Amino acid sequence: MKITRREAIKLGLIGGGGLLLSQDFPSEAWAQSSPQIDRFKRPFQMPPVLKPIRSYEGGDRPIDIYQITMRKNQVKILPGEKTQIWGYEGMIPGPIIRQRGGFRDEDRGRSSLIRFINQLGTTLEEGEEVPISTTVHLHGMASLPQYDGHAEDLSLPGYFKDYFYPNDRAATIWYHDHAIDRTSRNVYMGLAGMYIVEDEEERQLNLPKGKYDVPLILQDLRFASDDNRLIFNDRNQQGLYADVILVNGVPWPYMKVARRKYRFRVLNASTSRSYQLVLSKEENKLTRGDKLFVIGTDCGLLSEPVELESPLKTLQLFPAERYEFIIDFAQYPLHTQVFLRNPSIQSNSNFDKDTRVQTIMRFDVELSEPDDSDLPDHLRDFEPLIDKIPSGQEVPLRTFVFGRGRNWTINGKIWNKNRVDANPEPGAIEIWKLVNQGGWDHPVHIHFTDWQILDRNGRSPRSYERGWKDVFRVGHFETVRVIARFSTRNGEHIEGKYMFHCHNLVHEDHSMMSLFEVGKNGDSPFSAPPQPISEMQPL
Ligand code: C2O
Ligand code: CU
Ligand code: CU
Repeated sequence: MKITRREAIKLGLIGGGGLLLSQDFPSEAWAQSSPQIDRFKRPFQMPPVLKPIRSYEGGDRPIDIYQITMRKNQVKILPGEKTQIWGYEGMIPGPIIRQRGGFRDEDRGRSSLIRFINQLGTTLEEGEEVPISTTVHLHGMASLPQYDGHAEDLSLPGYFKDYFYPNDRAATIWYHDHAIDRTSRNVYMGLAGMYIVEDEEERQLNLPKGKYDVPLILQDLRFASDDNRLIFNDRNQQGLYADVILVNGVPWPYMKVARRKYRFRVLNASTSRSYQLVLSKEENKLTRGDKLFVIGTDCGLLSEPVELESPLKTLQLFPAERYEFIIDFAQYPLHTQVFLRNPSIQSNSNFDKDTRVQTIMRFDVELSEPDDSDLPDHLRDFEPLIDKIPSGQEVPLRTFVFGRGRNWTINGKIWNKNRVDANPEPGAIEIWKLVNQGGWDHPVHIHFTDWQILDRNGRSPRSYERGWKDVFRVGHFETVRVIARFSTRNGEHIEGKYMFHCHNLVHEDHSMMSLFEVGKNGDSPFSAPPQPISEMQPL
């Protein structure tokens, strides 16, 4: 839907303070276009995989120790001048962490301990020099509350914190900044990276692996036309829609591929933008009969592959969602060019002056390489949680309304770190009804546990959404019912306070966030506070 400026003022969408105005992020510049670079000029890049600095093999479960420094860096993104980013290890996106997870003997699973060191220094906000504080959330991991990146468990520059992650099951997840009121800016500046957990059941499937298992981390950024610096503007807290599409930090890359199967793990790491993915043999329109097979959702494999054929079947990807899919490039003759297209979703296209965002990258089918990988018909057992409710038992049903007053709200309320809006029992199954009052999409994310979508406005979810998820698009005037068990995927009970919020990071920063508390005996999210670097002991 389209909202005119006058209507927006009437609805209270324009106005209200809190807009970041600074020399770093000049707000008047949002309407300017980024430099008009040619697309498909730079090759695709795999983000590097981070190696542990040390491993402890003894004990019940080996632990790998990683260290990541958050710092500013000047990186070459566009032709001409370099761009300052804030990155994990100074990279945009951060390095990939790949871990063996799972808790069965045959998984030989490992835990991770990551020391995140904040060396970001300061930035200008409204002319004032302020420290860049951070907190790290590993999105998709059932971590203890003190390691979940609570928005107010902040590390100042010059501080570090050791985060512990159990790696309970296989999935494509991600780590990103979660600082209160500043998440959108911090993630936009580069503080996001992918984290891949594997287990034995998945390895047995013989899906494409190694260089054929490919992360695609999508972001949209806007650059100043004179010096390529990043421009952050959330348009009076509505959302941030930029005009350069990056895959793994490279604008509109091309990727040489072989005529065989590839596994792609796509993550929408954009601030607000949603994507609609579809393959096409043409750059600016959709062709017919191009196929991809969705095999995984936010929290791991689907029960079976879901075939999506162009032009009608597309894969919608809202902020923070992850999907995994197989493309078999053997469907194309050598020397075919195939585009990953993004025919814009209406909620974005209202903001897009530039249709160049409607293509994401190009695959050049140039190589012939053998393919001994499989795409099995059955991937993983999936039991609907609704069938696990003993008959006659009442399941708690909670309703959360995502709306807008002076701020973005949940049930009419804004964020308050001392208020808890739901108290599930450890191990309990609950149904949550997520209601959108209209006007905007709200990609809702609930921390700690994995969910299943029951229905959207009473109708069944899209075919590829019928797996475990932790982000759900709740569209304009939509009601989505989701179901979860409040335990980890291996059945362990963890208690404590966790956040849930809209993952349009601009909405999150302007209060569309709250807390639930599992049980009452959990550790406080503030029980492992960051320490000054001067007191840092080697791990
Ligand atoms: Cu990906 Cu609470 O966030
Ligand atoms: Cu999360
Ligand atoms: Cu929202």
